[in-house]
Amino acid sequence: MASVRGPTPPSVVVVGGGVIGLTAALLLARRGYAVEVVARNLPGDSLDQAWASPWAGANWCPFGVDPRVCKWEAETLEQLRTLIPSGLAMPLPITRFASSEAGLHNHWYAGVADNYTRLGPESCPPGCVGVTFTSVSVNSPHYLEWLGAQCTALGVKLRRATLKALRDAVRPDTRAVINATGLGAGELEDVRDEFVEPIRGQIVVVRAPVKRCVMDATMNHPTRSTYIIPRPNSGGQVICGGCYEVGSTVREPDPAMTRSILEHCLARIPELSKDGTVEGIEIIRECVGFRPSRRGGPRLEREDKTFGGSRRVPVVHAYGIGPAGYQASWGMAGEAVKLVGDALIEGIVVEAPRAKL
Ligand SMILES: Cc1cc2nc3c(=O)[nH]c(=O)nc-3n(C[C@H](O)[C@H](O)[C@H](O)COP(=O)(O)OP(=O)(O)OC[C@H]3O[C@@H](n4cnc5c(N)ncnc54)[C@H](O)[C@@H]3O)c2cc1C
Ligand SMILES: *[C@@H]1O[C@H](CO)[C@@H](O)[C@H](O)[C@H]1NC(C)=O
Ligand SMILES: *[C@@H]1O[C@H](CO)[C@@H](O)[C@H](O)[C@H]1NC(C)=O
Repeated sequence: MASVRGPTPPSVVVVGGGVIGLTAALLLARRGYAVEVVARNLPGDSLDQAWASPWAGANWCPFGVDPRVCKWEAETLEQLRTLIPSGLAMPLPITRFASSEAGLHNHWYAGVADNYTRLGPESCPPGCVGVTFTSVSVNSPHYLEWLGAQCTALGVKLRRATLKALRDAVRPDTRAVINATGLGAGELEDVRDEFVEPIRGQIVVVRAPVKRCVMDATMNHPTRSTYIIPRPNSGGQVICGGCYEVGSTVREPDPAMTRSILEHCLARIPELSKDGTVEGIEIIRECVGFRPSRRGGPRLEREDKTFGGSRRVPVVHAYGIGPAGYQASWGMAGEAVKLVGDALIEGIVVEAPRAKL
């Protein structure tokens, strides 16, 4: 990839230190930009519900057919595969069930994922359909720390701050901003995005010798689904879920749901329990995370904004990826970085007429 030439590399501020912001910062740094990440949450804040990234499973398993997201996901799978030899990503056999072919997203990734195989009716719940494929998973807290360390090694500054508005991150030499604030909508006062909404996910982290993943969307329930995702290099941690409760902001885990999650997961993967009972499952913690979603799909676009009274600076919005932030990270962040590059080539950073301000 070509890097930025010239004695003074252009300065770019990335607001947000989740998987999207950090991946964008890393790609920018690799291209030679001077990058500062400004975020309320940074790698290490593993138990803070104010951001989504430490709560993820995190595996690669597409949830839709939005062509933009599909492209990001395909690109990201390729990147994640390159991290397998280092142990940062783990190959993961997935069995996936849905109530209909539409629930399998028309098999768009059959040619993208390895070993993609449709299951016969004898291998699926009655009336349902299923596939198997070889995916990858990452240990989300470790992965964030790795991203942060890669960034720091390339000179990226990670600065912890809670911003009232994006303009508070812009310095006189800032040439572009990436807005990767996830659910940050509530706090950023310069233009609130009313489409941003949380999707609550309750999970139970357990310890068990499980090396495969099941994603089962056949539960006859509007907001529930069953998934089991082993976490690489974690001493046997497995993420059991879960739910997709759109708009819910309830932070506490519901004990009845924990019980139900464990029962459903155990029915699919008996090795979760020492003795075949729910009581025989070693629970590490019950928890709740909020997927940073957006009605109508994620926002990835450039908007040129006036900051500091006189300068127009390109802002690239990169948020609202909802349940798919890890599996789309390299593609989505790569597109954000491309928009930054395009904006700087166009030389959009110009002095606006002062009279108008
Ligand atoms: C239970 C659960 C399971 C999941 N499983 C998977 C999975 O298997 N695969 C997958 O791909 N994805 C999964 N996800 C989704 C994934 O976690 C998210 O899509 C991803 O973390 C979004 O990253 P982000 O960088 O957009 O947002 P976030 O991680 O929320 O980061 C936002 C950043 O912006 C900062 N910020 C916000 N507002 C401000 C402000 N005012 N000032 C300064 N900083 C601010 C935050 O502090 C944070 O640094 C799961 C999520 C949950 C909750
Ligand atoms: C396909 O599945 C087999 C058996 O699980 C596995 O050994 C192999 O690594 C998989 N192929 C790829 C490319 O992941
Ligand atoms: C930045 O992103 C948030 C979503 O997290 C959005 O609500 C806000 O409008 C964006 N900020 C600006 C200045 O556009």
